[in-house]
Amino acid sequence: IDTLNGLFKPKSVAVIGASSTVGKIGHTVVLNLTESKYEGNVYPINPKADEILGFKCYPTIQDVKKPIDLAIITIPAKFVSDTIDECGKAGVKGVAIITSGFAEVGLVDLEKEIVEKAHSYGMRVLGPNIVGILSNSDKFNGSFAPFLPFNGKGSLVSQSGALLIGIDAATYMRGIGFDKLISIGNMSDVNFADTIEFLDNDPNTSCISLYIEGFKDGRRVIDVSRKAKKPIVALKSGVSAHGAAAAASHTGSLAGAAKVYKSAFAQAGIIQAEDLDNLFDRTLALSLQPPLKNDNVLIITNGGGVGVLGTDAAEKYGIPLKFAPEDVQEELKKHMPEFGSAKNPVDLTGMAGNEWYFETVNFSISHKWVQGLVVLYCETAMTDPMGIAQAIKEAVVKSGIKDKPVAVSFVGGERSEKAMHWLVENGIPAYQAPDIALNAMAALREYAIIRESANDEPFTY
Ligand code: ACO
Repeated sequence: IDTLNGLFKPKSVAVIGASSTVGKIGHTVVLNLTESKYEGNVYPINPKADEILGFKCYPTIQDVKKPIDLAIITIPAKFVSDTIDECGKAGVKGVAIITSGFAEVGLVDLEKEIVEKAHSYGMRVLGPNIVGILSNSDKFNGSFAPFLPFNGKGSLVSQSGALLIGIDAATYMRGIGFDKLISIGNMSDVNFADTIEFLDNDPNTSCISLYIEGFKDGRRVIDVSRKAKKPIVALKSGVSAHGAAAAASHTGSLAGAAKVYKSAFAQAGIIQAEDLDNLFDRTLALSLQPPLKNDNVLIITNGGGVGVLGTDAAEKYGIPLKFAPEDVQEELKKHMPEFGSAKNPVDLTGMAGNEWYFETVNFSISHKWVQGLVVLYCETAMTDPMGIAQAIKEAVVKSGIKDKPVAVSFVGGERSEKAMHWLVENGIPAYQAPDIALNAMAALREYAIIRESANDEPFTY
């Protein structure tokens, strides 16, 4: 873990192939370090320059003569091997090789040689063929992705670099953030198992998300995942025959049959995501909310339609709704008109305002029968979505309940969108459609089942 700290939380960074030329990757990485307000030491390495972006530049890494945790390499593939020796002699802890053109184009031996060399100096290798490492909590953008992601509590490890860059930008649109984004590319040395172990010990990560094309050390991934104290959610691509071939030429990894991976994930206690949207949505829930201990989920809504959609989704995702017990129904009836419904879904009707939402959420989450709450809302002319959002949050806080999950969906326009962003910033996952909120709840149920079968110390949030 200590060497991995050098890679992922470096106190000093050298950029080998740093460049003064705007648009080159070696320029962008140095620029990103300054723009992310990285507080560690930055050492550009380039024999042709004296200074790059205000930093003193060194001809070789051995000329720096100060401790260096991480060397980010942005020089062409044919020069990389020699540089590894120089890094080793300079006492570097880890190298992140952005450069492409190794095992993924058939140069397997060159990649192997680099790793063997690095290990002979006690260094770890991230990549090659990566975008880099981004960490909000360390104010560290050691990559050529344009900016740090929208801040959040999940951390993502991606085998695809371009996808990581796309996700980085999408975090702002979606309002779903990450603390760290780690690109692992060809996984010549540091692989999924290493990053899972590292993130499981990272205080700024509460959910580990993976984009996987293929494992290289599946057995170890299963072992470390089973031991992990945090939820792990994975999107596996390359499950079709043609997709598997595409993955092989992309990151040089074997993308086995979907079935094999499914059973590996089950053994490992890794929760699966169906697609990219689902990876975002499940990460959000798993990073913010506790596991769902049983399937007593209550839906509270102001609209029959979204209530029915939520009910269908609950069944589809394996947490079918049950009618709430009589005492729950009796209490809920006090906060709705005659024509409302206190069964499950609880329909407060279109007349529901902040107060009814507050009272019903506060009562329900506190009741022993209710183990999880899904709050739905359709934007009406008489209500302000932000007011409803605040009522939900206050009701949860006032209940003092922290071990039961809550998920929300508002269907509406810009005002609803803003209110949902506010909810997410305040720790409550909120989604654009009821079935997504139910799918998120199902992920929290899957996680509870994983925890129970792991049979180790109870999960604390
Ligand atoms: N030590 C220090 N500096 C060196 C050394 C060395 N041994 N060798 C070369 N340099 C300098 C060069 O002189 C140059 O600096 P300059 O601009 O001052 O002349 C700089 O390092 C970069 O070298 P170039 O030859 O200009 O290489 P270029 O920047 O064109 O390409 C790169 C290098 C980016 C690593 C390229 O080879 C590459 O692999 N590109 C793909 C990277 C990538 O996409 N990775 C992620 C994949 S994931 C995805 O799909 C997004």
